[in-house]
Amino acid sequence: MSALTALPAWQALSQHRDAIQATHLRDLFAQDPKRAERFALKAAGLYLDYSKNRLTDDTVALLCQLARETGVEALRDAMFAGEVINNTEGRPVLHTALRYRGNDAISAQGEDAAAEVRATLKRMKTFVERVHQGQLTGYTGERFTDVVSIGIGGSFLGPKIMSEALRPYWRADLRCHFVANIDGTALAEKLKKLDPKRTLVLMSSKSFTTQETLTNTESARAWFLDSGAPESAIGQHFVAVSANVPAAEAFGIKAENVYPMWDWVGGRYSLWSAIGLPIALLVGFDHFEALLAGAEAMDTHFRTAPLEQNMPALMGLLSLWYTNFFDSGSQVILTYDHYLRGLPAYVQQLDMESNGKGVDKAGQPMACATGPVIWGGEGTNGQHAYHQLLHQGSGVIPADFILPLQSHNPLGRHHAMLASNCLAQTQALMLGKTQAEAEAELAGKGLSDDEITALARHKVMPGNKPSNTLLMDKLTPETLGALVALYEHRTFVQGAVWGINSFDQWGVELGKVLGNAVLAELEAEQPKLDQDASTAGLIRLFRQGQID
Ligand code: F6P
Repeated sequence: MSALTALPAWQALSQHRDAIQATHLRDLFAQDPKRAERFALKAAGLYLDYSKNRLTDDTVALLCQLARETGVEALRDAMFAGEVINNTEGRPVLHTALRYRGNDAISAQGEDAAAEVRATLKRMKTFVERVHQGQLTGYTGERFTDVVSIGIGGSFLGPKIMSEALRPYWRADLRCHFVANIDGTALAEKLKKLDPKRTLVLMSSKSFTTQETLTNTESARAWFLDSGAPESAIGQHFVAVSANVPAAEAFGIKAENVYPMWDWVGGRYSLWSAIGLPIALLVGFDHFEALLAGAEAMDTHFRTAPLEQNMPALMGLLSLWYTNFFDSGSQVILTYDHYLRGLPAYVQQLDMESNGKGVDKAGQPMACATGPVIWGGEGTNGQHAYHQLLHQGSGVIPADFILPLQSHNPLGRHHAMLASNCLAQTQALMLGKTQAEAEAELAGKGLSDDEITALARHKVMPGNKPSNTLLMDKLTPETLGALVALYEHRTFVQGAVWGINSFDQWGVELGKVLGNAVLAELEAEQPKLDQDASTAGLIRLFRQGQID
């Protein structure tokens, strides 16, 4: 038993789980007409109904006790204060400084992070406005009409998914094309539609060492020069965002075209930095600043609200409740808004790259499960794909339903129908359908007793499936910023309880190293084929270009 699982709160939660395991949400709602009212929260323009969770007042109290026993609030305050909480890389964690609108200094290893951020935002604003006003143009003097944004992981998901979410706010005079994968198809499919003379290439890489991004940028540069553009025009058409400015300059990007990011910003937390330039180029700097303001509003809530009234804390603790006390291996995010269709993929990297860890900060093996698999998609599509498993599958898969109350595209009854599906799914997951209800339904359809006996069991749904419902008035830059910050802090809270470092990602290094070795084999005149038999065999097949 580890120190964590020996804590009084952990032990009490384990006993509490045994005590309420058989309690059905149907009964909890029947016993307390005010349940929905009591287990609801408002913060930063969001409304959370968490009443359809497997919880009682005691559950919430014990989860908050666990957060206090594991020092979540102290670590939160240390994060905001710029203390070195990323212990394996010796760095502060200050993505919150990126959207801080105040004038106080935020010390980050001797730098004033807030001042650095303000200076960079000012540079970003000038750049974006000069592109929009046609003061920055291509080498023929033509305005930029297209941006190719090259980056991967946090240097791709944030810009792309937030841009998609803010589609109603896009300018009409600029398009952005996102390229991440090393698969040449990804880049080729974009470039073949573009005019190099009017294309701005924005390369984003915190490390400036990521193979996919460097290779894609080199290929984009070749495309640009092959079009007849002079080498001297590179400086006008290529911009970089990186924490590694010297490497960007060595790559051939002028210093004044390199927008800095910092070691104290993790890639999966970086959309608020210059990594978010594609967003600002598409929606304008005012809307980008509104995105920052929404996130800051959630930061303020997270910093100040008591745990019992703290939206990120409760969502993080409830996620952990299912992971560690209901053996839930995955959690699903269902966005009932087409513009938010990419959010589950965003939260996948955010949460799984942060909390997919097997040791704690001291390097000791974890005695409990940590980060769950995050998956999901847009509603109502998922209802015709994987909701069957949510309703009648085995195990507990907690679900977050996200629904703006107003649509950007009010079309007949569509939004009411979308909303009715969202709310009904949370209700069906909670209620389920009993054997008696199934039999009555079949009897009402005139089936014989034998037919009812044969079919009823297949129509029973256990219910008692937990869900959160998150509402906002409308999906705007502000509410989007608050929503993403909410999930960042939800991830933080879980990592803090587990005592893991949520801000490094050593697990991705081995694949990169082995990938380079395999690439050398694929391209060698005489490969050594000294790998394991499977890999060697696969290399051989790739080299021959066809299956034997
Ligand atoms: O390999 C994982 C990762 O480091 C992510 O954490 C990061 O967002 C992505 O690769 C891209 O890294 P970079 O911005 O340094 O190119």
